[in-house]
Amino acid sequence: MDTNFAKTIKENGIVKIKNFLTPEEIRRCSEIVKFYKAPKGDKNSFFVTNIKVFFIKLLKLEINKLKHSYELLQLKKSKKLDEIAQNFFNKKTKLSFIDGYFSKIEKKDIIPWHTDQAYSGEKKVEVKFNNPDTFYLKFFIYLTKVSSNNGCMSYIPGSHKIGYQIRKAIYCNEISYQPYWSLRDFRKIITDNYIYFNNTLGPNTIEDFLVKTNFDETGQESSQFDYDAEAGTMVIFDEGGVHRGSKPTLNDRMVIRYLFDPILH
Ligand SMILES: [Fe+2]
Repeated sequence: MDTNFAKTIKENGIVKIKNFLTPEEIRRCSEIVKFYKAPKGDKNSFFVTNIKVFFIKLLKLEINKLKHSYELLQLKKSKKLDEIAQNFFNKKTKLSFIDGYFSKIEKKDIIPWHTDQAYSGEKKVEVKFNNPDTFYLKFFIYLTKVSSNNGCMSYIPGSHKIGYQIRKAIYCNEISYQPYWSLRDFRKIITDNYIYFNNTLGPNTIEDFLVKTNFDETGQESSQFDYDAEAGTMVIFDEGGVHRGSKPTLNDRMVIRYLFDPILH
């Protein structure tokens, strides 16, 4: 299969690939995620990707976890995920983690609009800002059907370029720190430094983004960035763009994620 999605991801921040998994792969991955039925962030949602954890699990005789991790690593290999990540970063990359989690039907967003590799709240004295080039390319594989306002991961196209510029500006001390994790704070930091971002990102980028995300001010529904996807669809995205996990209103949602980041030195 074609592994060069770099151009699309660099341009939009996201690419969607239908039928990425075969029905048999969907079935097997679903069995694995259902085995733990772990919510997002739960320790049981993570699989083994490094040798140290492998020996810890072995000592604890967590054989199922080792077996499942092996299967998911084999899937990564057969789907050439490393190659896709390397094409994107144009560098050697490493797999940081694999998780698989289960989100029950509910009426609130799985996670609201935000950008990753960001900061929220007051600056602490010891905070060390991240190198803007350290971020994850996330491979997000749906194991259940999702749709608008039903568990899809929504993304504002092109917003990763702004996210990158914010991280870089703070890291290089070109603007002062203020929180920007949530969409509200993200809009505020670019509005407060409007001239700087307009100059660095070129005309219209900031204005277009502020118009597209005006729903955050007005409290309107923001489903125009939603989409339908069948089980087996994969989205690959730059986590520096503004995104959310919409509420799974119609069915429980299961996903598997592979996260890659570049090796900078
Ligand atoms: Fe996120």
